Amino acid sequence: QELKLSLEQIEKGGYEHFMLKEIFEQPKSIHDTMRGRLIVEEGIIKMAGIWDHLEKFTNANRIIIIACGTSWHAGLIGEYLIEEFARINVEVEYASEFRYRNPIIGNKDVVIAISQSGETADTMAALKLAKEKGAFIYGICNVVDSSIARITDAGSYTHAGPEIGVASTKAFTAQLTILSLIALKLGKHNGSLSNGEFMKLITELDHLPKKIEEVLKSTHDLVKNIAKDFVNAQNFLYLGRGYNYPAALEGALKLKEISYIHAEGYPAAEMKHGPIALIDENMPIVIIAPKKGHYDKIVSNVQEIKARKGKVLAVVNTGDTQVSEMADYVIEIPETSECFSPIVASVPLQLLAYYIAVYRGANVDQPRNLAKSVTVE
Ligand code: AGP
Repeated sequence: QELKLSLEQIEKGGYEHFMLKEIFEQPKSIHDTMRGRLIVEEGIIKMAGIWDHLEKFTNANRIIIIACGTSWHAGLIGEYLIEEFARINVEVEYASEFRYRNPIIGNKDVVIAISQSGETADTMAALKLAKEKGAFIYGICNVVDSSIARITDAGSYTHAGPEIGVASTKAFTAQLTILSLIALKLGKHNGSLSNGEFMKLITELDHLPKKIEEVLKSTHDLVKNIAKDFVNAQNFLYLGRGYNYPAALEGALKLKEISYIHAEGYPAAEMKHGPIALIDENMPIVIIAPKKGHYDKIVSNVQEIKARKGKVLAVVNTGDTQVSEMADYVIEIPETSECFSPIVASVPLQLLAYYIAVYRGANVDQPRNLAKSVTVE
């Protein structure tokens, strides 16, 4: 027992939990995801899995992304990325729904499964169905040689390294990195993306590990402190727009799975269609509001919340004034392209969920009722 404990201590590398270690590994894991693929000096993205089947993607009727949980959130951002940059029609589905609804699918469709473990039963079954119907199936997995990686026609590994904490952190940002690479590569190839725009975006992508490092340094202590004020919260709303709407869903999932506080993510504009009724002085609301991406609209959402005395915790870009003046808590992150902002914004939200859960005495790495890979229906 003692030996096991000390081995575990070693594996945690000085961190109290695997989750915290994995959050802090993100500058490296994102770098590893891009290593050998993104070659900025030559202006290219090398991805054998895409390159060998380029026509399948560029001539696809549509791309359907299937996944569960956090990987599904990554898929939603993948939809925005691929539609914006490659102009290919994308749909995103929960694997568990897709497999049972007799979907219309054929040999002109490409189905991308996203799975950290590569073992999720629903995702696996949905893929098998897509394969039977003749679709080209592609895997984005973290675990090498996993079941999903083996049954797919081609794929890209995320190379985030082993993720032990049940709450997915570095695998999520690695999935977003892979999806960004795929979208940009397809867009460059089919001409939807100009060379200038492509170069600008890959240069920005290349800067992400450095920016994540900055975020970890500048927000860690701050978030650790802010979290203390929310230990007794019973509910949370997470709001974002555009690329940061799925980031809001993911922030809420992180909090609920490890702290057991009820949390919901919404596209900010949907607030007025229901959730606004929940807002009072006891409702903490996390707002993801980077400068690029519907900022003015978010400003009015924050005004509506403050008028109802909601407590606003805003994730904004460094130097922000408008949202920051209204917010009760402000977390600053560096600016990046709008499409990459969920990668940067997710980091303080992971820390927030982590510290709230730690202060509540929860078992952060192994939350109740959850398994790292869900191999049953
Ligand atoms: C993430 O924090 C969750 N534990 C969970 O939603 C997970 O993302 C989901 O079960 C899918 O797992 P997979 O990526 O291994 O397929």
